[in-house]
This record gives sequence, C-alpha cells and structure tokens, in this order.
Amino acid sequence: MKSFALLLLLLLLLTPLAGQKIHEICAPCHNSAAEDFLEHPHAGKDLSCDACHGKSDSHVQAAGNMPPDRVTGPLEQPALCGTCHPTQRKGFQASRHWKLIEARTRQRSPACTTCHGAHDLRSAESMEAQCKRCHESLPGACLAKPASSTAKVGCANCHDKHSLQRQPGPAR
Ligand code: HEC
Ligand code: HEC
Ligand code: HEC
Ligand code: HEC
Ligand code: HEC
Ligand code: HEC
Repeated sequence: MKSFALLLLLLLLLTPLAGQKIHEICAPCHNSAAEDFLEHPHAGKDLSCDACHGKSDSHVQAAGNMPPDRVTGPLEQPALCGTCHPTQRKGFQASRHWKLIEARTRQRSPACTTCHGAHDLRSAESMEAQCKRCHESLPGACLAKPASSTAKVGCANCHDKHSLQRQPGPAR
C-alpha cells in the first residue's frame, strides 16, 4: 500500500513534465524567444522550438552548458525553412541575396530570418524599412507607381519577393 502511494506521488510529480510543451521547457531560460514564438503562426500550427532547434535534451539537462541540437546560420536556413516552405526556398535560392551568402562574401545580404525574424513574425512595414536600410539609394524607377499593388511590402509589387526578379513593369 505504501509503495503504491509512493508510486502515485511519483506519477503526479512526473506527469506535468511529460505533458509539457517544448517551449514551456525552454521558456524559463529563454523568456523573450518563447514569448515572441507564441505570437508566430508557427505556434498556432502546433510547432514548437524543436522544429528548428531539435529537442535539445542535453542542452536542457546541462542548463545551457551543452549546445542545443541545432542552430541555423544563414547558409543553412534554406534547408531548414525550406523543408516546410519549398516554394519560398526555391525563389530565394534563385536570388542575388542568396548568391552573395553562398559565395561567403563580406557584403551583408539577407537570409530568411533577416527579413522574417526567427521567432517573432516581422510586419510588412518593418520588413520594408529593413529593405531600405540596406538599399539606401534606390534608382528612380523604384519610386514609380506599380502596375498593380497587391503586395503588402511595397517593393514586392515590382520585384518578386524571393527571387527579386522584376515583376510586370511600372505603370506608364
Ligand atoms: C536552464 C536554462 C536553459 C534551458 C531550460 C534552455 N536553455 Fe537554451 N541556453 C541556455 C544558456 C545558458 C545558453 C547560452 C547563452 C549564451 O551563450 O549566451 C543557451 C543558448 C541557447 C541557444 C543559442 C545557442 C547558440 O549557439 O547561439 C539556443 C538556440 C537555445 N539555447 C535553445 C534552447 C531550446 C530550444 C531550449 C528548450 C528545448 C532551451 N534552449 C532550454 C540555457 C537554457
Ligand atoms: C522557425 C524556426 C525556429 C523556431 C520555431 C525557434 N527558433 Fe530559435 N532560432 C532560430 C534561428 C534560425 C536562430 C538563429 C538565427 C537568428 O538569430 O536569426 C534562432 C536563435 C535562437 C536563440 C539564440 C539567439 C536569440 O534570439 O536569443 C535562442 C536562445 C533560441 N533561438 C531559442 C528558441 C526557443 C526557446 C524557441 C521556442 C520557444 C525557438 N528558439 C524557436 C529558429 C527558430
Ligand atoms: C516544420 C515545418 C516548418 C518549419 C521548419 C518552418 N516553418 Fe514556417 N510555417 C510552417 C507552417 C505550418 C506555417 C503556417 C502556414 C499557414 O498558416 O498557412 C508557417 C508559417 C510561416 C510564415 C508566415 C506565413 C504567412 O502567411 O504569414 C513565415 C514567414 C514562415 N513560416 C517562415 C519560416 C522561416 C523563416 C523558417 C525557418 C527559420 C520556417 N518558417 C520554418 C511550417 C514550418
Ligand atoms: C529579402 C527579404 C526576404 C527573404 C530573404 C525571404 N523572404 Fe519570405 N517573404 C518576403 C516578403 C516581402 C514576403 C511577402 C510579404 C507580404 O507582402 O505580405 C515574403 C513571404 C513569405 C512567406 C509567406 C507566403 C508567401 O510566399 O507569400 C513565407 C512562408 C516566406 N516568405 C518564407 C521564406 C523563407 C523560408 C525564406 C528563406 C528560404 C524567405 N522567406 C526569405 C521577404 C523575404
Ligand atoms: C542585409 C541587407 C539587405 C537587406 C535587408 C535586403 N537586401 Fe536586397 N540586396 C542586398 C545586397 C548586398 C544586394 C546585392 C547588391 C549588389 O549586387 O551590389 C541586394 C540586391 C537586391 C536587388 C537586386 C537583385 C538583382 O538581381 O540584381 C533587389 C531587387 C533587392 N535587393 C531587393 C530587396 C528587397 C525588396 C528587400 C526587402 C524585402 C531587400 N532587398 C532586403 C542586401 C540587402
Ligand atoms: C514601381 C516599381 C518598383 C518598386 C515599387 C520598387 N522597385 Fe526597385 N527597381 C524597379 C526597376 C524598374 C528597377 C530597374 C531600374 C534600372 O535598371 O535602372 C529596379 C531596381 C532595383 C534595384 C537594383 C538597383 C541597381 O542598381 O541595380 C534594387 C536593389 C531595388 N530596385 C530595390 C528596391 C527596393 C528595396 C524597393 C522597395 C523599397 C523597390 N526596389 C521598389 C522597380 C521598382
């Protein structure tokens, strides 16, 4: 009887851990990443930190003194994000932005998370502001009225959002 009670107690202690979502395990040490992540459509689709960082058990057990299973730099992002976003990967890898990263030049060029954010989903406005920070002087053609205006990020009305290829020219 006593050992049964002990077993029950042990089970009670363990259940909350077993039912815990991955991000709840990480949150105590990575509060802002966890908060940002919960705002992202990824969280709504029941993904968690492990989708990009692996389960990282040894990292958790060692309280951060062992590296997480996976950390993804710009060169590896198309492979990581492209598993679930293959169309965007294909477009991006056709771009000048990717060619520069692939060639390991020193010129700063954006990968997926530079534009979108890794944890928080960047808004169209702040993404466009970011385009302008790297592209300080734009040709006059970029100020023209686009032939159609459907994209939330203005630049993407004339440049494909990922390949950057010119879209149907500006209205004349
Ligand atoms: C007990 C605290 C703790 C827990 C729990 C924890 N981490 Fe960490 N994590 C750390 C520490 C400490 C660092 C190192 C910070 C640094 O190097 O600046 C770190 C760094 C990281 C990094 C950056 C590594 C790098 O090389 O840039 C990632 C990614 C990460 N953790 C992911 C996770 C994920 C995912 C979880 C949950 C599965 C998690 N962590 C749980 C403490 C923790
Ligand atoms: C969609 C993929 C993705 C998910 C999901 C994700 N991360 Fe990350 N995370 C990244 C990438 C990519 C980087 C490194 C590149 C960067 O900083 O842009 C990163 C960087 C980090 C870092 C180090 C830099 C920093 O921002 O502090 C920590 C810590 C981290 N993630 C923790 C977490 C935790 C905790 C979760 C879950 C709540 C999580 N990540 C979910 C992709 C992801
Ligand atoms: C395990 C699969 C998976 C991985 C890995 C993944 N995503 Fe996602 N992503 C999704 C799903 C599912 C959605 C929600 C799609 C929807 O609602 O139509 C989503 C949504 C998004 C959105 C929002 C799209 C919109 O319509 O607003 C962006 C941006 C995005 N992901 C970028 C990334 C980036 C950048 C990475 C890599 C750092 C990444 N994703 C990694 C599955 C994934
Ligand atoms: C130069 C900035 C930039 C880079 C780099 C970039 N994106 Fe995007 N992405 C955009 C823009 C702009 C949009 C359209 C946003 C809007 O207008 O709502 C977009 C849209 C998306 C969407 C929403 C669905 C769609 O196609 O409209 C997903 C998912 C996405 N990107 C994933 C990725 C992934 C994965 C990578 C890396 C392989 C990546 N992006 C690289 C700028 C970028
Ligand atoms: C981190 C800096 C950075 C960011 C952010 C950035 N770019 Fe770029 N972009 C570059 C660099 C570097 C080049 C290459 C310039 C060169 O060839 O000299 C480039 C090239 C381009 C080109 C020319 C492509 C070609 O084929 O010649 C277009 C169009 C472009 N970017 C649009 C955008 C748009 C739109 C955004 C935002 C959604 C954006 N960029 C965000 C750095 C950036
Ligand atoms: C009305 C359509 C239009 C819009 C909107 C637009 N562009 Fe352009 N962009 C063009 C055209 C057309 C060219 C080619 C101009 C030329 O060859 O002289 C161009 C060229 C470029 C180039 C290449 C410059 C070079 O010297 O090779 C970059 C980078 C660029 N645009 C970035 C952007 C960014 C970033 C935005 C948003 C802030 C943007 N564009 C908005 C039409 C547009």
